[in-house]
Amino acid sequence: MFLLEANNIKHYVKDRLLLNINQLKISHNDRIGLVGINGSGKTTLLNILAEKIIPDEGIITQYAQSEILPQFKKTDTIKSGGEITQEYIQQTLNNAPALLLADEPTTNLDTKHIEWVEKKLKHWQGAFVLVSHDRIFLDTLCSVIWELEDSKITKYKGNYSDYLNLKKVEKKQEQSTYEKYEKERKQLEKAIQLKDEKAQRATKKPKNLSPSERRIAGSKPYFAKKEKKLHKSACALETRLEKLGNIEKIKD
Ligand SMILES: Nc1ncnc2c1ncn2[C@@H]1O[C@H](COP(=O)(O)OP(=O)(O)O)[C@@H](O)[C@H]1O
Ligand SMILES: [Mg+2]
Repeated sequence: MFLLEANNIKHYVKDRLLLNINQLKISHNDRIGLVGINGSGKTTLLNILAEKIIPDEGIITQYAQSEILPQFKKTDTIKSGGEITQEYIQQTLNNAPALLLADEPTTNLDTKHIEWVEKKLKHWQGAFVLVSHDRIFLDTLCSVIWELEDSKITKYKGNYSDYLNLKKVEKKQEQSTYEKYEKERKQLEKAIQLKDEKAQRATKKPKNLSPSERRIAGSKPYFAKKEKKLHKSACALETRLEKLGNIEKIKD
């Protein structure tokens, strides 16, 4: 039984396609950590899931009650940021939503309050999507990581440390694919260059020919044909090189 479904979501900020997500499904007891660099669209996505923002394209279907816990902003009251957040979180949990959408709930909190939030969410029976940059917090609480990068969500099973390990393996594989590609590209380029050189040489009338060769050399069509053939194979190599495509150098 799903609590929420998002299908074919596209959302723009000015000309930038901020979110381009085929499908998200959230089930009972899902403990999802949403990670991504600042400005990648995490807050916008939470608001779309909570139906506070209507996406430019796509459909959100909520099958159960959800609550968003917005990113905490410091207000100038007598109470500390920690106390205000604590009250706010408690209030939200008292509403007992089936799904909690929490946006960086530990920002600006001291250790004591972070531990309080951690404990609350640990014993929380509902599902949550939790945006956080706190590795320990994510490790303690999450069993799935959603990574938001370049408008797309990639899902990883496990906690944040598992996610980091999987990313490491992924990067290594990308690196080796890139190296293989580079090697093949260089080989093909060299082969093309050799064929081109050969084709050029073929157009020149060679010296020191035997009488029989001279007879052939005298006939222009022979060399034109040879040149054409060499050009053709150079072209074939170039096509192969094009087919090899262009693998971007691995991002750091
Ligand atoms: N209402 C808005 N008007 C203009 N730009 C916005 C608005 N909301 C978000 N953005 C832009 O969209 C991008 C993603 O923002 P946000 O969802 O807050 O990312 P994150 O929470 O991952 O840091 C940012 O570049 C931000 O400046
Ligand atoms: Mg944010």
